[in-house]
Amino acid sequence: MKTQINFVGVSGSLRKGSFNTMLLNAAMQLLPEDVTMEITSIADIPNYNADLDIPSASQRPAPAQRFRDALAKAQALVIVSPEYNYSIPGGLKNAIDWASRGQDSPLLHKPVAIMGATPGMWGTIRMQMAFYGVFLFLDMKPVLKPEVLVAKAAEKFDEHGNLKDQMAKDLIKQKLQNLKNLVLQLQPSEPLK
Ligand SMILES: Cc1cc2nc3c(=O)[nH]c(=O)nc-3n(C[C@H](O)[C@H](O)[C@H](O)COP(=O)(O)O)c2cc1C
Repeated sequence: MKTQINFVGVSGSLRKGSFNTMLLNAAMQLLPEDVTMEITSIADIPNYNADLDIPSASQRPAPAQRFRDALAKAQALVIVSPEYNYSIPGGLKNAIDWASRGQDSPLLHKPVAIMGATPGMWGTIRMQMAFYGVFLFLDMKPVLKPEVLVAKAAEKFDEHGNLKDQMAKDLIKQKLQNLKNLVLQLQPSEPLK
């Protein structure tokens, strides 16, 4: 029997012409068989405030709760983000913080894949490295390989925002396949009869 798997995707950039949002859209076209992906936005999430979180989760701002709910519905997370000042963009880190607390955190133990695009040369590697500490603290399961770092992004997308670089497409496809495989591996096996 085929298992349907749901990913949730988030872009760390809010700007209209974002290369990272283009990359996330490209990933939508490269999903493995029997995998869907819902894209969720972090645009309206206010600054983290612990007074409105655990143990007062009923007071969570609606956009933060919606973000948590979108993560909870998915079996794996796909993060596509720029690097800001050698690290994770503040808005994205803030969203992750809202989703990170409590026993019911939708991030705990979640398989995750991270990718990034930059007009520069170093392809978001420092942002990706900064995320690995977050993944470690939350017992998340990152798919490390292949690394997807789209450098010189202005040359890699056409005027409609479509990814035209075949090597990048192959790497994204493989990464998403590896994420699917990890989800399947981590699924509880059938009880022995
Ligand atoms: C606040 C800020 C900080 C940035 N810091 C870095 C950086 O540390 N390293 C880097 O390669 N590019 C940096 N950039 C350039 C981004 O890589 C570039 O703006 C990129 O296009 C942003 O991604 P987007 O196209 O998805 O919006 C920074 C841009 C901004 C706005």
